[in-house]
Amino acid sequence: MSKVFHRTAKSLPVAVKGEGVWITDRAGRKYLDASSGGVGLTCLGFRHPRVVEAITRQASTLPFIHSSLFTTDPLEELADELVTNAPPGLEKAFFVSGGSEAIEAALMIAKQCAVVRGELRRNHVISRHKSFHGGTIATLGVGDFRVRKKLFEGFLPDTIKVSAPYEYREMRSGETDQMYGERLAKELEAAIGDAGPETILAFIAETVSGGGVGALSSPPGYFKRVREICDRHGIFLILDEVYCGLGRTGKLHACEAEGIVPDILVVAKGLAAGFAPIGAVLTKGRIHEEIKSFGGGFTHSGHTLSCVAALVVQRTVREEGLVENAEVQGNLLRRLLEERFGNHRYTGDIRGRGMMQAIEFVSDRNTKEPFDPEKGLAAKISQACLNEGLICWAMNGVVDGYRGDHVMLAPAFIVRPEEVHDIVDRLERGLDKALERV
Ligand SMILES: Cc1ncc(COP(=O)(O)O)c(C=O)c1O
Repeated sequence: MSKVFHRTAKSLPVAVKGEGVWITDRAGRKYLDASSGGVGLTCLGFRHPRVVEAITRQASTLPFIHSSLFTTDPLEELADELVTNAPPGLEKAFFVSGGSEAIEAALMIAKQCAVVRGELRRNHVISRHKSFHGGTIATLGVGDFRVRKKLFEGFLPDTIKVSAPYEYREMRSGETDQMYGERLAKELEAAIGDAGPETILAFIAETVSGGGVGALSSPPGYFKRVREICDRHGIFLILDEVYCGLGRTGKLHACEAEGIVPDILVVAKGLAAGFAPIGAVLTKGRIHEEIKSFGGGFTHSGHTLSCVAALVVQRTVREEGLVENAEVQGNLLRRLLEERFGNHRYTGDIRGRGMMQAIEFVSDRNTKEPFDPEKGLAAKISQACLNEGLICWAMNGVVDGYRGDHVMLAPAFIVRPEEVHDIVDRLERGLDKALERV
């Protein structure tokens, strides 16, 4: 009997080995991983020799020293690597252990800066429906993961919520995507006006939403308007690229495609690609000039071994052209998904960018009626695909927190074209089995 306080009640296979995009369990069964370790992390696959060698070397010299006592070459070089390749104006990097800590640090840095400016009333955060920003008390409160939030009702801090972009269901007939983007921006502006601009600290959004709702991106022009609104009211724009950042969308930073630079950019998953836990907060140089140093922080901030892992991962991604490969293989994946599932009777929407693609399922394509959540379609898809030796991430809740099932595909950037074909073949067999049972 396991002594682990597992996060699921179902019994799990025991993973023993990974190689490329393949995982082997203790029974010797091989799985093709179309999810980068489940949640969009392992963009170099499971055993990249260059990273393994660098981690091994660092572990035998200096695995850790607290970042308030010493700086280290890996820490300095990683900050240099990230800032050099960051959107212009993002000039400093603070390191933590993962995405949630990074979001908390981003909010705290914004608040510390507002206090230095004497703007003490800026205590509200505006975030979007359908968002996920982490699993800690604060970040769960900032996001909109309703099933999980219900478990902690009354205990979480809250934010002002505005609509997320969701063209498939919420763009009105006769509306262009520009008009839709403008409507969403106006909603943000109205929310700021209602609360009082002087009380708003930050607006936080995922540039492209992650696995929880299946790769929702914003209409063209939306983020430019958001940038302009935040600037006008002195509100920090924080972009959460924990999932979609560092190459996942086929651009190093997803916000490049939007033509804007946030005040604070948060990255994590692809940073060390699962070789070590780490996240980073990139801030405008001006923020650093104002607050000089961050008053928060954690024991593992700037962890030496994690920094080495992240440094080598980022150099490898850059030197091996893997962002470009994410775009090329992502386009192939998208084309195959459209060919294979575009006319499927239960396909509602196929969407995404680069190496994050999703299919949303509906019980009726004309009415867009989602499946009854009681049918548990998402769980059936995950299991049926696993039975086909395919790991993918299926969830429900995109419509209203409970209804609406989708499957997310987010393979590693090193995936080969024949593996992309294999993913789609296995997905088709899994979906056929899951959908015949609903
Ligand atoms: C967009 C987004 N933000 C924040 C987080 C939280 O990151 P972590 O689980 O590393 O704390 C996640 C994790 O899935 C995420 O997808």
